[in-house]
Amino acid sequence: MSKRYTITAALPYTNGPIHIGHLAGVYVPADIYSRYLRLTGNDVAFICGSDEHGVPITIKAKKEGVAPQDIVDKYHEIIKTSFEEFGISFDNYSRTSAKIHHDTASEFFKTLYNKNEFVEEVSAQLYDAEANQFLADRFVVGTCPKCGNEESYGDQCENCGTSHNATDLINPKSAITGNVPSLKETKHWFLPLNKHEEFLRKWILEGHKKDWKPNVYGQVKSWIDDGLRPRAVTRDLDWGIPVPVKGGEGKVLYVWFDAPIGYISATKEWAAREGKNWEDYWKDKDTTLVHFIGKDNIVFHCIIFPAMLKAEGSYILPENVPANEFLNLEGNKLSTSKNWAVWLPEYLIDFPNQQDVLRYALTANAPETKDNDFTWKDFQARNNNELVAIFGNFINRVVVLTNKYYEGIVPQPTDFKVIDEDTLATLRAYPAVISSSIERYRFREASQELMNLARLGNKYLADEEPWKTIKTDAERTKTVMFVALQIASALATLCEPFLPFTSKKLKGILCHSTLDSESTWDEVSTRKILLPASHQIGKGELLFSKIEDLEIEKQRDKLEASKKANEAAKKTLEPQKKEITFDDFTKLDIRVGTILEAEKVPKTKKLLVLKVDIGIDTRTIVSGIAESFKPGDIIGKRVTVLVNLAPRALRGVESQGMILMTEDEGGNLVFVNPDIDNVANGLKIS
Ligand code: 2FM
Ligand code: ZN
Repeated sequence: MSKRYTITAALPYTNGPIHIGHLAGVYVPADIYSRYLRLTGNDVAFICGSDEHGVPITIKAKKEGVAPQDIVDKYHEIIKTSFEEFGISFDNYSRTSAKIHHDTASEFFKTLYNKNEFVEEVSAQLYDAEANQFLADRFVVGTCPKCGNEESYGDQCENCGTSHNATDLINPKSAITGNVPSLKETKHWFLPLNKHEEFLRKWILEGHKKDWKPNVYGQVKSWIDDGLRPRAVTRDLDWGIPVPVKGGEGKVLYVWFDAPIGYISATKEWAAREGKNWEDYWKDKDTTLVHFIGKDNIVFHCIIFPAMLKAEGSYILPENVPANEFLNLEGNKLSTSKNWAVWLPEYLIDFPNQQDVLRYALTANAPETKDNDFTWKDFQARNNNELVAIFGNFINRVVVLTNKYYEGIVPQPTDFKVIDEDTLATLRAYPAVISSSIERYRFREASQELMNLARLGNKYLADEEPWKTIKTDAERTKTVMFVALQIASALATLCEPFLPFTSKKLKGILCHSTLDSESTWDEVSTRKILLPASHQIGKGELLFSKIEDLEIEKQRDKLEASKKANEAAKKTLEPQKKEITFDDFTKLDIRVGTILEAEKVPKTKKLLVLKVDIGIDTRTIVSGIAESFKPGDIIGKRVTVLVNLAPRALRGVESQGMILMTEDEGGNLVFVNPDIDNVANGLKIS
């Protein structure tokens, strides 16, 4: 029976492109689900858009010296394009800077305000006097009161997921200046979550114990059991939606107040375009609302947004919030700032037209119940061992043999044996098997069932060997190829949610569009014949191609380069020393020299005693470089020497100068060499 669904996918922050973590955690599962629902005849609004407010965008804009609007304009386009390129089939991809969203969020706020659903309170908030800025959300970091993470943000700890108020942080520091903030009074509007605690307890803890994922249910339970407190839904910032009530001048709505309302405004925008009634998708009790999110968004979608919807009074609540855990990359947390990620635009440059490979690898290894690791080796194996060797191989054999034996015309079967009937019966069970996994949000399992159908096809061909029977039993071969073609056709239909590009290509090869009527998802079970005898199919075309080791190495090298760059950047540079005069500088006598001899100072770990030719004489210099250099390796080395440093005794040896050293990216000592080798010893450096 057809039902109405509103499916939302978390609105991505518009401060950078999309990476594989976003795709695996939210957008691919949401897309599989939405495509599946459409294929099974439901009325679906699949909604998303850019989250364009909030501190991360302001910070990025400050860093780049541009306006926040420039940042969001740039990344909105990049992100939107990536989604289109990866076949994420949103019915509408909107943005929170759109007028319709500003109007919708303002109206929503005013409704709650007029219903007295807010508590208005003047309280002391963290303030950075130097930056002249209140420190909310990501403008402040400090120690999480719950887990002790020293880099928690003001509104949420990324380590334990706890959502808190900035004033709860221990040892807060301004993320703008590094200063310890002071407290300054300011007025804000708070959503009294405590008032909704009982309702949330009943609705989720009693009502959704069985059907919500344990990771989601568990987090919600822990927050409710800890006791809910009022949360400020306004901020003293200048980037965002202005607070639309008296006294709200100079303040904006908290980004997590406006962003989920973005789902509603994006639906309104879509409905106006399509001639639909948006309220059917948000206010009709028969509509099923599902939010796809990552685990860091659970509190906002399971507690704060539902409390807002409940307080407003006319909206439905989510039926489920199937949040995923996080995807790591080659053993480390994905990180935008550390460039530890696989960015979608870059992926498409290196693997053009291979969107389905990534979709499949991310689905087969999705972080559904625990954090999971994406490795390039696994990606290669999923492609080479499954997509190429199982799915692609089966289709290729069927298409090539049909063309070879029957000029691409589906043959008329004759006598069905038990194995044929059994294979067709197994095939007919697949829609229900895959549906059951998808409907329980088990997309990994569903993708493996799809692959099992291709395995069924391969096994059938291997057992029945039409390439042998063609020489001995033409009639039998026709029946076998007929059955194999039915499996190929079923795969074309059933793979669409997972592999939309492959599905389209395969339907093209099998000429589905010239069928009297193409079978729907459910008809793969109920129809006896999917591709009738006499139907003409097209020529073969490879669906997938092998990914070579070299391509994988290239990706791993890229990550290695990121790691090195991070290590180099991690080194915090010492602040500049007190200013000196030019006269002070001219007192330093720095010259070019050559190391003539080097040996360890006995009973020390770090010291080498060197004889250095400095042009004017040969000096004995004790240098703390023994852990970085073997004496034998540095004889003849050109070095830079401070020659008029007062002599001092080190471990009983008088040192008569100092060799200038610095560190390389890996933290090893290196010599500060003269730029060229043919400078004479003793020449002054100035
Ligand atoms: O975590 C994020 O990327 C947020 N921008 C998600 C917002 S989801 C919704 F509420 F809009
Ligand atoms: Zn924490």
